[in-house]
Amino acid sequence: MSVRRLDPNQPESFAFTAENLEWAKKQIAKYPEGKQASAIIPLFWRAQEQHGGWLPEPAIRYVAEMLGMNYIRALEVATFYTMFRLSPVGEHFVQLCGTTPCWLRGADELKEVCRREIGPEGVVSEDGKMSWLEVECLGACVNAPMVQINNDYYEDLDTASFEKVLKDLRAGKEVKPGPQNGRISSEPLGGPTSLTSANQSETGGGN
Ligand code: FES
Repeated sequence: MSVRRLDPNQPESFAFTAENLEWAKKQIAKYPEGKQASAIIPLFWRAQEQHGGWLPEPAIRYVAEMLGMNYIRALEVATFYTMFRLSPVGEHFVQLCGTTPCWLRGADELKEVCRREIGPEGVVSEDGKMSWLEVECLGACVNAPMVQINNDYYEDLDTASFEKVLKDLRAGKEVKPGPQNGRISSEPLGGPTSLTSANQSETGGGN
């Protein structure tokens, strides 16, 4: 895992909105007395969402205090899990899978698209619209190569379709998540290769 450091530019303070505070109290109440620290992951997640997609240092401190934890313990959690972003991200945050199945299917070419369309890895584009990061397997290898953008997966990409996804998102157009090559879910690319008959017994599949 790469070194994960807090961003040098931090906001002065952080506090949950009234609505998020209410939600946080409900999460904490789910745990038995003395085990409130167990709520740290959902609370960090909500703090990150509230703060535009990244977790600032004051939020780590705020959550630690709320859970009665030592600051260092909360910092350990925040810096360990890559799902918590420690620096600002673009409005559309691209996580590009570079693990073997995606790499074999063209992840390197997709990285080039990111560099061209967004800029250097980990740097928010000048218009604030985008940033990107290479990550490990996102569990959608069957639709490799793929990326996650905010909360959606875009799969079965090639350079042309990925470029279009990025351009359309940047332009504020609606983009349909999922496979970008027309296939449904993870069905075979050339159509079904088994159970092709309406009558299963014709395929030898019956008893
Ligand atoms: Fe890319 Fe698993 S290797 S999703």
